[in-house]
Amino acid sequence: MRVGVLTGGGDCPGLNAVIRSVVRKGIQEYAIDFVGLRDGWLGALQDRVIPLDIPSVRGILPRGGTILGSSRTNPFKHEDGLRRVQDTLAAHKVDALVVIGGEDTLGVATELSREGINLVGVPKTIDNDVSGTDYTFGFDTAVGIATEAIDRLHTTAESHMRTLVVEVMGRHSGWIALHAGIAGGANAILIPEQPFDIDQVCAWVRSRFEINYAPIVVVAEGAVPHEGQMILKDQALDEFGHVRLSGIGEWLAREISARTGTDARTTVLGHIQRGGTPSAFDRWLATRFGLHAVDAVKDGDFGKMVALHGTQIARIPLADATETTKKVDPSLYAEFDVFFG
Ligand code: F6P
Repeated sequence: MRVGVLTGGGDCPGLNAVIRSVVRKGIQEYAIDFVGLRDGWLGALQDRVIPLDIPSVRGILPRGGTILGSSRTNPFKHEDGLRRVQDTLAAHKVDALVVIGGEDTLGVATELSREGINLVGVPKTIDNDVSGTDYTFGFDTAVGIATEAIDRLHTTAESHMRTLVVEVMGRHSGWIALHAGIAGGANAILIPEQPFDIDQVCAWVRSRFEINYAPIVVVAEGAVPHEGQMILKDQALDEFGHVRLSGIGEWLAREISARTGTDARTTVLGHIQRGGTPSAFDRWLATRFGLHAVDAVKDGDFGKMVALHGTQIARIPLADATETTKKVDPSLYAEFDVFFG
């Protein structure tokens, strides 16, 4: 049996750990032959396929990024996309795919599975917004990086008695903002799921100054003020119709300064959250996802995604996972009200 592996969408720490574990178990226990598709679905469209064996996955467990490359390619947006993907798989005698991706890459996988391509999905993303799994790998590393940044920003904010706004990733969901904000002791956490009131944010900032502390405001890039709209970096759309975000942090610092008459600055963490070595938890989760994904392939259990349910790895229909993104529940957000201001 020959299996193709691909990584698509924004990269995240732990992708290499999945590739390694799929290849190690697949070759050692099931005598599967592997190939890698370069740059996600782009490699499938362009027939860019490379050999993938045990020597090629040696030493990659702690390495961030992906040895296969990644892209935000949607084959259905390309002429004859489906046929070209099918041709590439046929030309390399690929019987099945392990698709490692987030909502978009797995959304394409869902469609291709409906078209008869044998595949198993593995959920990745620092945003943690894939439905049907308690966690995606990459998230824990991103939260750790953002928390460390908040810890550092506390001391400089206090030295200058100014507000520091920390903008983190999270287009549709505030998981990183909420987890890192709570772990880092933020005084306000603003997430896409809950439009915020700028007067309320300023009131929290003032009350923090009144007790002689410097406020830390954590904001997800997709957060929006009441009666406002998302702030875009530019007008360009990717092949899944997504805009590039960033700018809400700068906007907030300006508003806070103007409305409270105090100094405010912004730090945008950006891709630092996605780069570098995965945390121990992400290596553990990515490794388990890989082992269970190759088991699903061996069982011929296609059209499924591996998922974390508590401490168990489950297999769920891909279509269920890609129907909607996983949002922060208002009641979870409300648990932390006591820490704001
Ligand atoms: O999908 C993960 C993510 O990191 C989002 O949080 C962010 O909006 C987006 O990717 C940015 O991706 P890129 O800069 O690679 O287009």
